[in-house]
Amino acid sequence: MTPQASYSTKPIFANFRLVVIIGVVQLTSFLSSLMTQPQTLFEQIGGETVIRRLVDRFYDLMDSQPEAAGIRALHPADLAESRNKLYWFLVGWSGGPPMYIERFGHPRLRARHLPFPIGESERDQWLWCMNQALEETITDGLARTQLSRNFMQLADFMRNKAG
Ligand code: HEM
Repeated sequence: MTPQASYSTKPIFANFRLVVIIGVVQLTSFLSSLMTQPQTLFEQIGGETVIRRLVDRFYDLMDSQPEAAGIRALHPADLAESRNKLYWFLVGWSGGPPMYIERFGHPRLRARHLPFPIGESERDQWLWCMNQALEETITDGLARTQLSRNFMQLADFMRNKAG
């Protein structure tokens, strides 16, 4: 018997099987990485419906609670447009569609607040309403903490007078 006659096809098939198994494992991990892409805050909290609820609760509190009387006085009597603007802004700011920018261009939020005197007291009243509204409307604890932190920074940045 020649040496060639004793060759077996088994190792070739074993290698082929190994290649297929490695391929399947790689494909599975690629697909699962696609499915676990980090979500935006917008998606995490429940999108437009939840942001509308958050904004409505925020302005209802501002409109009714004596703790927020100072900043309520800075706003128009009818809050309908304020509600819409904050809603459009927050949808984009949290990672959803850029609804505010589509309507008004770049937010330039600090510049738009310059006509209103905002110090520590106004900032804290705004945050008091927002944190209360967050507690009541955002069920995801991690997202709520993240939003609260982001609001704190932005509200502080809005200050334009001492005290
Ligand atoms: C720090 C305390 C703040 C005070 C006292 C305050 C007050 C006001 C007032 C009086 C207006 C004008 C009336 C209106 O259009 O509703 C306004 C507009 C607005 N505020 Fe604030 N604000 C504060 C912080 C913030 C923060 C932190 C945000 C965003 C998270 C925000 C978002 C907006 C938006 C989007 C508008 C509409 C701007 C426009 O297109 O004219 N505000 N704010």
